[in-house]
Amino acid sequence: MGYEIKLSPYAKNTTIPYWKRPLPMQNFTFHNPTKIIFGRDTISSLQAEIPPSARVLVTYGGGSAERNGVLKQVREALKAHTFFEFGGIEPNPTYETLIKAVALGRTQKIDFLLAVGGGSVIDGTKFIAAAIPFAGEPWDLLAKRVPVTQAVPLGCVLTLAATGSEMNSGAVISKAATKDKLVFRHPLLHPAFSVLDPSVTFSLPPRQTGNGIVDAFVHVLEQYLTYPAAAPVQDRMAEGLLLTLIEEGPKALATPSDYEARANLMWAATMALNGVIGQGVPHDWSTHALGHELTALYGLDHAQALAIILLPNLSLRRAAKREKLLQYAARVWNLDISAPEEAIDQALQKTRDFFESVGVPTTMKGHGLTCDVEVCLAQLARHDRTALGEKGDLTLTQARQIFESL
Ligand code: NZQ
Ligand code: ZN
Repeated sequence: MGYEIKLSPYAKNTTIPYWKRPLPMQNFTFHNPTKIIFGRDTISSLQAEIPPSARVLVTYGGGSAERNGVLKQVREALKAHTFFEFGGIEPNPTYETLIKAVALGRTQKIDFLLAVGGGSVIDGTKFIAAAIPFAGEPWDLLAKRVPVTQAVPLGCVLTLAATGSEMNSGAVISKAATKDKLVFRHPLLHPAFSVLDPSVTFSLPPRQTGNGIVDAFVHVLEQYLTYPAAAPVQDRMAEGLLLTLIEEGPKALATPSDYEARANLMWAATMALNGVIGQGVPHDWSTHALGHELTALYGLDHAQALAIILLPNLSLRRAAKREKLLQYAARVWNLDISAPEEAIDQALQKTRDFFESVGVPTTMKGHGLTCDVEVCLAQLARHDRTALGEKGDLTLTQARQIFESL
C-alpha cells in the first residue's frame, strides 16, 4: 500500500515509519468563558444572570419565538429588569437591519443584549454588541477587519441547534446591498451565558432541524477531515459528535418533541463549534467559505449551501485528505478500509445520503438552481477567499473545479 495510518483498534500504529507519523499537536491556549445553562425550564434563570441595574435590549427574529412562547418566558424572567425589544432579525442577518438596532441601543443607553433565537439572531446581536460602542462605520469591523476593542455584553436564549454561536466568539453578517456575507470574531463577543432548553426546539420545522444537523456535521468535518495531527482526543470527540448527529438527527425529525434527541442534538451542535474539538489541530473551513458565496448569491440557507459544496470539495482534495478520509470511513461509517479507494467512495456517498435523508439536498439542481461559475469566482476573489483549506492550497483554480461540478 505504501502507507499505513493510525486506526486503533482497526490497525496498529506501531508500524508507521517515523517520517510518516502525524505532525505533533500544535500548542494552544483555550479559554471559553460562556456559561451554559442547559435543560428544561431553564429560561427563568436569565433573571439571575443579568445585572439587576442593566438596561437590556432583547433581540429576536421573525416571530417564531413569539409563536412558541419563548419570548413570553423571557419577558416573564425579565419583569424586574428594564428592557426594550428589537424583532425582525432575518436569517443570514443583514447589516441593513442590524444597524437599526444599533441606533436603538445607543439612544436607549443599552448595556446588556439578550439574543433570543438561532445563529442569525445571535450573530446579529454580536454585531450590535460590537457596533454600539464603535466610533467609526460598523461595517468596517467586517469589510476592513478593523479589530473590536469594546463590546456590550450579551447573553443568549438558543432556539435552534446548529451554529454553535451560543458558545463561540464568531459571527457571520451579510450586506444585502453588495451581496457580501462576511465573518468576524473577537473574544469580547463570547456570550456571557447561554440558556439551552432543548424543548424550545420542538417547534422547529423539519427544514431547520435538518439544516442544524448538517451545519453541525460540517463544523466537525472542517476541524477533523484535514490531515493527522497526533490528536486522538480531538479525533475521538469529533467522531463521537458525528455519530451522535447520525444517530439522534433522524429521531428528532421523526418525533419533533423527542426531548432526548433534541437535547443531544443541541449539545452536539454546541460542542461542534465551541472550540473544544478544534484545539491543536489543523482546520479546513473551505466548504464554509465557498458556501457563504452560494448563500450570498442564491439565498440558500447556510446548511443548504454547505451540503452542496462539501462533497465535490472533498472529492477534489481526496488525495491530500486521504488518511483522515480513511479514518472517517472506518470509525464513523464502519467501513472496511482494506480496499481504500472504495472505502473513501463509500464514505462520501454515505455522507451525501445522510444529508439527503435529513432533508437537505446536496446539489444545486435539488433547489432548481444552476451555479454561475464566473460570478461565484468573482465573489471569492473580491472577498479574498483565494488560499483556502488546511494548507491554503485551495485557490481559485480548485474553486473553479468545484463550482463547475455543481
Ligand atoms: O426568524 P424566526 O421567526 O425566529 O424563525 C427562524 C428562522 O426562520 C426559525 N427558528 C429558529 N428557532 C425556531 C425557529 N422556528 C421554529 N421554532 C424555533 N425554535 O429558523 C429559521 C432559521 O434561523 P437561523 O437563526 O437563520 O438559523 P441558524 O441557527 O441555522 O443560523 C444560521 C446563521 O448562522 C450563521 C450562518 O451563516 C447563518 O447566517 N453561522 C454562524 C456561525 C457562528 N456564529 O459560529 C457558524 C456557522 O457556520 C454559520 O455560518
Ligand atoms: Zn456552519
